[in-house]
Amino acid sequence: MAVAEPASVEEVAAGLRRVGYLPGESTALVAFLATKLGKPVLVEGPAGVGKTELAKALARLLDRTLVRLQCYEGLDEAKALYEWNYRKQLLRIQTESNEAGWQDVQEDIFGEEFLLPRPLMTAIASAEPVVLLVDEIDKTDQEFEAMLLELLSDFQLSIPELGRIEARTRPVVLLTSNNTRELTEALKRRCLYLWLDYPGLEHELEIVRLHSPDLQEQTARKLVEVVHRIRELDLKKPPSIAESIDWARTLLLLGAQDIDTRTFTETMSVILKHRTDLDTVAARAGVVLDPAADAAA
Ligand SMILES: Nc1ncnc2c1ncn2[C@@H]1O[C@H](COP(=O)(O)OP(=O)(O)OP(=O)(O)O)[C@@H](O)[C@H]1O
Ligand SMILES: [Mg+2]
Repeated sequence: MAVAEPASVEEVAAGLRRVGYLPGESTALVAFLATKLGKPVLVEGPAGVGKTELAKALARLLDRTLVRLQCYEGLDEAKALYEWNYRKQLLRIQTESNEAGWQDVQEDIFGEEFLLPRPLMTAIASAEPVVLLVDEIDKTDQEFEAMLLELLSDFQLSIPELGRIEARTRPVVLLTSNNTRELTEALKRRCLYLWLDYPGLEHELEIVRLHSPDLQEQTARKLVEVVHRIRELDLKKPPSIAESIDWARTLLLLGAQDIDTRTFTETMSVILKHRTDLDTVAARAGVVLDPAADAAA
């Protein structure tokens, strides 16, 4: 099932579908190139359009372990690269006999055994190649980006007490960003770029049907059409694919056969996450549900 070395874009596209991810054209192309060129991919786009899921799907397709570094403000090297296991070091020092000199103890406690590898180190030190997901890189600061760049260009890291650790295998690297800050040109230059946007109608319908195969085709189609119309409104947080999927599941659970005004009003909080957005959409429920009827009225 898994394909360790995909030979063509078509093979990647078909493989991703098989593992439950329906890629757009550029997604399949960039994913293929990533496996061939060994360059990291920077995936940008609004929330909930499948950025994180793409990395997971690639790991399934290539049959590799997914190593994930979730970024946040203040993330530092100790949490991203490695850390010394202080507790274990302390225990070691305590059990040392009094005769042992400091030099011996020091050499001992700064060995690999006392190292706690964090995701970036795990990814490059792994004996089997992995997929490395650096999720939401825009949440970190520029210093972190610079450190990451160095790692991604040299595929090695140096630990003062231990020396250089070189990559044993090359990971396929995906970085995702929600665009909350502009990333540095240096980072962009080293990456392949993939912009993921809200999908077209038919594509999203297919995704919704994949996640909720039991929802009637007609209802699913209407759901996607409504979501697309809602996205055209001026909202704080337009519904994404994630919300379409949640909504489809909700309708299924409720046994709704059609999205009429009542069902819509009852369930719209599944796809809208701001009070003001709920008001905006409620005021336009007629057009959103049935633009033709509304125009005739
Ligand atoms: N092309 C696709 N095929 C199948 N499922 C998809 C696709 N795109 C998105 N999904 C589904 O949509 C949901 C949201 O995707 P995901 O969490 O990857 O979004 P994201 O872009 O990482 O969002 P965020 O920026 O909020 O982290 C997931 O349940 C995922 O399975
Ligand atoms: Mg994500």
